[in-house]
Amino acid sequence: MKAVSLRVAVVAALLACVSALALTPVSAQQSAKAEWDGVYTDAQAARGAKVYQQHCVFCHGKDLAGGNLAPAAGGPAFVAKWQSRPLRELFGYVQARMPYHNPNTLTRQANADVVAYMLQYSKVSAGAKEFAGDLSLKGGDPKRGEAFFTEAQAERGRQAFNRNCGLCHTTNDAKLTQKQVDEAPLPSSFAAPFLGRIYYGKMLYPTVYHLYTKMQSMPAFGNESISNNTRADIIAHILERNGFPAGNTELKPDLELMGQMMLNEQGFEHIFNGKDFSNLKFVLGTRCGPEPGGCARTEPGDTLTVLPGGKMYCKCDLHGYWYYPKKLTNFTVRFQHKFIKPEGWVGDDDIYMGGGGWLLFIQDTNMAGFGKSIEVEGRVRDMGDIFFIGGKQGKFTYDNAAKTKAVKVWDWNDIEIVSKDGVVKSYVNGALMSTITEHNDYPAGFFGMQVEGSPTEWRNIRIHVE
Ligand code: HEC
Ligand code: HEC
Repeated sequence: MKAVSLRVAVVAALLACVSALALTPVSAQQSAKAEWDGVYTDAQAARGAKVYQQHCVFCHGKDLAGGNLAPAAGGPAFVAKWQSRPLRELFGYVQARMPYHNPNTLTRQANADVVAYMLQYSKVSAGAKEFAGDLSLKGGDPKRGEAFFTEAQAERGRQAFNRNCGLCHTTNDAKLTQKQVDEAPLPSSFAAPFLGRIYYGKMLYPTVYHLYTKMQSMPAFGNESISNNTRADIIAHILERNGFPAGNTELKPDLELMGQMMLNEQGFEHIFNGKDFSNLKFVLGTRCGPEPGGCARTEPGDTLTVLPGGKMYCKCDLHGYWYYPKKLTNFTVRFQHKFIKPEGWVGDDDIYMGGGGWLLFIQDTNMAGFGKSIEVEGRVRDMGDIFFIGGKQGKFTYDNAAKTKAVKVWDWNDIEIVSKDGVVKSYVNGALMSTITEHNDYPAGFFGMQVEGSPTEWRNIRIHVE
């Protein structure tokens, strides 16, 4: 089915349900709730007016009064309806459900601004501080960059969903209350913000894989009644209902690939694409600068290879590093890191050394060794510790006790390094390892990884640049 015909269907369905809404009696004029006073600024409302003109006016009308296509988004009836609820619920609603035909596609900032405009229009007084949106929905900005399914597949999935799941679930409407979100019971709907739900600070479905594994026990009247391909189709439908874009490639029920389809990371780019090394550069050779001046290889050879499942494998039989050739100052890098257990390993796991490290602010790739850079250590015994290579020492703290608890010796470790305004924090499996507070001698530079020590695998290497 083409996008146009889908949209026509949406609008037709809209007309049917909205005419019922339009009959709701409008209560007597009420003034806006006092708690709302002063929560936004006039400048913000002016920005919000632009968002409104671009994304909302078509249905909610020039004067926010609503009409055939949508209820009012401002004014007395609107205020009467929302004023007894915390403002974050209104924000959450707009963020997750609007624009109706393409929900959850605007940024948090745009949504906060448009809410400010709605408040201004409803005669709530402005103040000195901007409305920042609802922080309890943190992480709820799904990644919009990548398309994991096709439109035709989502349509197949919608039909399969109605047949096999519709008895107990819906994708039509999100009726989640904040309490339901917090307690994560069976939701009444899989539409947005279903995939953005957070439970005690953690995303319930961080990747497509997590949704897929949950669906293995479904439908609850016998999981054999549908194939895994049909499960993939149903996921396509759920993704579409959560505002994810359709593309040219169908979603396949492949566990490894689904594990890399992040649902919570707006603005991250995979710097290693899982198929080849086209975004990366190499300097491989002990105490060598790169060719042609030096003796180091600039090709991966068989030292670094790509394994099925989008993994990069490092034989690490040679010292050197690979890097992403873009100078970075403020950025977040995330990836997964795993050591390969030597055959017949004897002894305690934590005496295994491992090796390598993650290089920040690489200044000069023509230098022998690892270049002038800051290393976040990758070794088991001091993972996350900091070394200043080839330049002046800076200042940092390191938490050895946290490291001992956090590191998984033979399993995948989730690494995150955040560089912001001169402070660098490194995390292993969510625990803070180290904080660099001074690194003046290492301005903007490349991000890379050491090739060193022992066989290692990496996957899902992604960067968000600010
Ligand atoms: C394609 C039409 C359409 C567009 C575009 C649209 N909306 Fe809506 N909006 C609706 C419909 C339909 C409803 C009622 C939905 C329901 O009750 O489930 C609604 C409901 C709302 C409500 C709740 C109103 C109430 O009575 O509780 C708010 C607030 C809102 N929209 C804000 C916005 C904002 C802000 C934008 C732009 C970012 C926007 N809408 C874009 C159709 C639209
Ligand atoms: C007979 C009723 C029934 C049917 C049919 C059914 N489910 Fe469920 N589903 C449940 C119940 C009950 C739960 C909560 C308990 C559990 O997890 O088993 C649930 C939980 C889920 C969850 C986890 C929800 C959450 O809170 O994160 C997902 C996802 C899901 N089902 C998907 C599906 C899909 C997809 C289908 C169709 C292929 C389906 N279910 C068919 C009853 C059903």
